[in-house]
Amino acid sequence: MGGYRELFNASISDPAAFWADAAKAVTWTREPQQILDDSNPPFYRWFPDAEMNTCANALDRHVEGGRGDQAALIYDSPVTGSARTYTYRELLDETARFAGALRGLGVDKGDRVVIYMPMVPEAVIAMLACARLGAIHSVVFGGFAAHELAARIDDARPSVVVTASCGIEPTRTVDYKPMLDAALDIAEHPAPACVILQREQRPCQLVGGRDLDWHELMSDAEPVDPVPVAATDPLYVLYTSGTTGKPKGIVRDNGGHAVALLWSMRHVYDIAPGEVFWAASDVGWVVGHSYIVYAPLFAGATTVLYEGKPIGTPDPGAFWRVASEHGVKALFSAPTALRAIRKEDPDGAYIGRYDLSGMKYLFQAGERLDPDTYAWASEKLGIPVVDHWWQTETGWAIAANPMGMEQLPIKAGSPTVPMPGYDVRIVHVDGSACEPGEEGAICIALPLPPGTLPTLWGDDDRYEASYLCEHPGYYLTGDGGYLDEDGYLYVMGRIDDVINVAGHRLSTGSIEAVLATHPAVAECAVIGIADEIKGQVPRGLVVLKSGASAEGLADELVQLVRDEIGAVACLRLVDVVPALPKTRSGKILRKTMRGIAHGTDEPVPSTIEDPAVLEALKPVLRD
Ligand code: COA
Ligand code: AMP
Repeated sequence: MGGYRELFNASISDPAAFWADAAKAVTWTREPQQILDDSNPPFYRWFPDAEMNTCANALDRHVEGGRGDQAALIYDSPVTGSARTYTYRELLDETARFAGALRGLGVDKGDRVVIYMPMVPEAVIAMLACARLGAIHSVVFGGFAAHELAARIDDARPSVVVTASCGIEPTRTVDYKPMLDAALDIAEHPAPACVILQREQRPCQLVGGRDLDWHELMSDAEPVDPVPVAATDPLYVLYTSGTTGKPKGIVRDNGGHAVALLWSMRHVYDIAPGEVFWAASDVGWVVGHSYIVYAPLFAGATTVLYEGKPIGTPDPGAFWRVASEHGVKALFSAPTALRAIRKEDPDGAYIGRYDLSGMKYLFQAGERLDPDTYAWASEKLGIPVVDHWWQTETGWAIAANPMGMEQLPIKAGSPTVPMPGYDVRIVHVDGSACEPGEEGAICIALPLPPGTLPTLWGDDDRYEASYLCEHPGYYLTGDGGYLDEDGYLYVMGRIDDVINVAGHRLSTGSIEAVLATHPAVAECAVIGIADEIKGQVPRGLVVLKSGASAEGLADELVQLVRDEIGAVACLRLVDVVPALPKTRSGKILRKTMRGIAHGTDEPVPSTIEDPAVLEALKPVLRD
């Protein structure tokens, strides 16, 4: 294996040769003859003539290759006090039968299935079963409420929804079924068949003629074989926050995804077949899709599915307990989790209680790993703490320190260097290149490597408008930052209206859309403000309709956002203000307000309509 620089240069100078070589790790039902279809820029397709099945690559081939009795998935659930290990053979058996059950409900290649589930093995089984049929899953994070679920149902138009009776948070049981019912009421898409996993912690009442019990369906389901699909066929649609209230349906293909994730398991995460990998995320996020479900299984490794939190289930030693009990070689979590652990266990006393000799790496993503948290974790754990940067859109790391290829010196605050296939450029607003050390918009020259989004679900125009039009020939990441003299990347934060709350990506636009529905609200703005543990939290500013009362309004608005978007939005602060600062064309000055709230000297645009409005707001924002 070459060193980083050599491989990176090869991937940029001859991408087709580089990824043709990586593609040998996949089991194809029809080998790729053409590697990259670049005949229709800015749309690119990887492995356009190849066929394969994602589920067969994740399960069947390992059973056929002699790993049937090896652990594929370890479910560890402190919130229910249960644990279970599935071997590859067991996971294949359950998946093939659930695929049979879905087929019995009419699910076919290309159909969509919405999966709205907590962190239970059945969520993974449902995803893999869709992949087995060539159906397209769309997983919705359990922390989202009815409104967000409905928006995704209307866009994906599923033939089936798979859910559970409840999710279990440390302090409460969250009923999923009422949220599903409400979402199906709001949605325009006619209610499809709903498969419901009854959990013993709180079963629910099924709706006759619509709802089916998971266990009953499985009891007489026949297993089905994997259906070969085109490498370019969609494997899943995962909705993520954009700058408007309407979520973007990120499309992931089958072939490029398998090639890229397999490459990353070996080169970025240094994971070999049989080793244990744990991404402490949620299957509802991209990290969960890529590194709880698909990549570890593609690699023949063992994945850990953890239904718990970094703290409180039961204590700040939870991560270290799981890592030591299951022999985790690499743990992947978000910096917010480390900050939460550190707050409760600043001296790392809990770390010392467990044998962590098998844990070689701690990977971090979801938000910038701040140098202070980096220093704490690397000192307390004594292993490489590796920040790496990526997005739902890319599905795998754009920049990382490739532990399985060459361990580069770590610079705190930097996710290190671009990964193969990602030709990262920093540009000014006018598209000209920034100098080393100079901050600008982070872009990636097209084509993006395999595994990244080929388009948005049913919306090529929005894909182009959101990512490709600003700087033709480049993908706009939405993040700002710089490259230093050594080619290390520094990602400093979003330059749009996306915020990152406890490693969860949220759109201020979608929170504003909910606030605006309240009858007392004339207009509103939501900005992200700094938070010690969660990185950022949203803050709402609302202007009242004339004659409306502010009495109790903040609490009502907090509850409204909780009911509509979900508790995960974490909106706790809402201020009633006399007016919002705007440009003469009516654009609300969110960036300026954000800067004032953060105490930075934010320049006020010359196009401001009424500077007095901003002046009047300053004491509120600085409070
Ligand atoms: N289903 C239902 N509700 C959920 C949920 C889910 N899957 N996930 C979170 N929520 C709820 C929580 O119960 C909480 O509700 P509350 O306001 O009634 O307490 C709310 O959403 C906010 O949750 P969370 O962001 O988890 O905050 P917290 O204060 O409970 O915990 C941390 C703080 C730091 C421990 C937690 O945010 C965490 O573990 N973050 C890591 C996130 C992560 O791994 N992201 C993956 C990115 S790679
Ligand atoms: P998501 O699509 O939910 O994975 O969120 C992607 C966004 O999270 C990115 O655009 C960044 O703003 C932020 N992000 C993720 N990982 C990192 C990281 N390692 N450093 C800085 N920002 C990050």
